[in-house]
Amino acid sequence: MTKYNIDVTLTQTKKEKPNASELAFGKVFTDHMFIMDYTEGQGWHDPRIIPYQPLTLDPASMIFHYGQSVFEGLKAYVTKKEQVLLFRPDENFKRLNKSNDRLCIPHLDEELALEALKTLIQVDRDWIPNAEGTSLYIRPFIISTEPYLGVSPSDRYQFIIILSPVASYYKEGIAPVRIAVENEFVRSVAGGTGSAKTGGNYAASLKAQQLSGTKGYSQVLWLDGVERKYIEEVGSMNIFFKVDGEVITPSINGSILEGITRKSVIELLKHWGIPVSERKISIAEIKEAYAAGKLEEAFGTGTAAVISPVGELFWQNEGMSINGGKTGEVTKKLYDTLTGIQSGMVEDHFNWCIEV
Ligand code: COI
Repeated sequence: MTKYNIDVTLTQTKKEKPNASELAFGKVFTDHMFIMDYTEGQGWHDPRIIPYQPLTLDPASMIFHYGQSVFEGLKAYVTKKEQVLLFRPDENFKRLNKSNDRLCIPHLDEELALEALKTLIQVDRDWIPNAEGTSLYIRPFIISTEPYLGVSPSDRYQFIIILSPVASYYKEGIAPVRIAVENEFVRSVAGGTGSAKTGGNYAASLKAQQLSGTKGYSQVLWLDGVERKYIEEVGSMNIFFKVDGEVITPSINGSILEGITRKSVIELLKHWGIPVSERKISIAEIKEAYAAGKLEEAFGTGTAAVISPVGELFWQNEGMSINGGKTGEVTKKLYDTLTGIQSGMVEDHFNWCIEV
């Protein structure tokens, strides 16, 4: 039992851990999971850690029909001194509650969520990989479980945390990815759910991603859903460009995700004195910068993607090769600094990491 009375039941059958060379993204899960229930009138109750196992849900559970769910993604690292670090977990639980607001899901006690996560990581500590470029990916999520086919907020939920030892998100590793600007489909509009971390946003993105994948692109770059002119974000990351010495990224506008890596990158750039601005950016402006030889770098940011250099951007039948398809200087510095802070190799002046 812990401060929050989190009950812990350990598994009797430990799974075999994968070798570092076999790690992919999100395919293998640790021995335990955290789970807690919500019932209207009773609130969140019965926080517990149990052996990792399938869920048993009524087929009428609302999650299966109307997709009322939210999730988060964060990572734990083990340092050379054997400390376990979490990167800005308070920001994730704050954002989870913002997503909860949008999806009519009851708020979680953020302190309890953090305590639950720390306890789970302590239980499965041996699963944190330590090879370069690897980490323990953490997936907290909430699903609606009331068996009811009417369209309304559920009166029952489950909050679950699962853990997965991972390597890089993209098959390219940290090599630059190719991205196609999406012209046919849209991801979200202001007033929609684009700024919430909810499964429906990702379901809506699959068709475009599948089509662009057949042409050799890793993901699509979404444009705004109204004018189809302004850059929003990439499937699993926020996007940045370096144009003529200045780093620019689309401002938070209600339809893009408020990335925690995005926020950290802006803080790092400001700290280094590199000009950075958040504003509306049209795809035409990026093409003009490219034509004028001023498009110096492009990269995506996200928990899973970390800092992913973009080597080519395809729009209107033309591939714009960025920095000769190679990782740019600022992109590399950001990657090294951020992963250095996260893994305890670079001093954490910002106090972003907390020890488990
Ligand atoms: C993350 O970066 O953690 C995410 O949640 C993106 C996910 C779609 C892989």
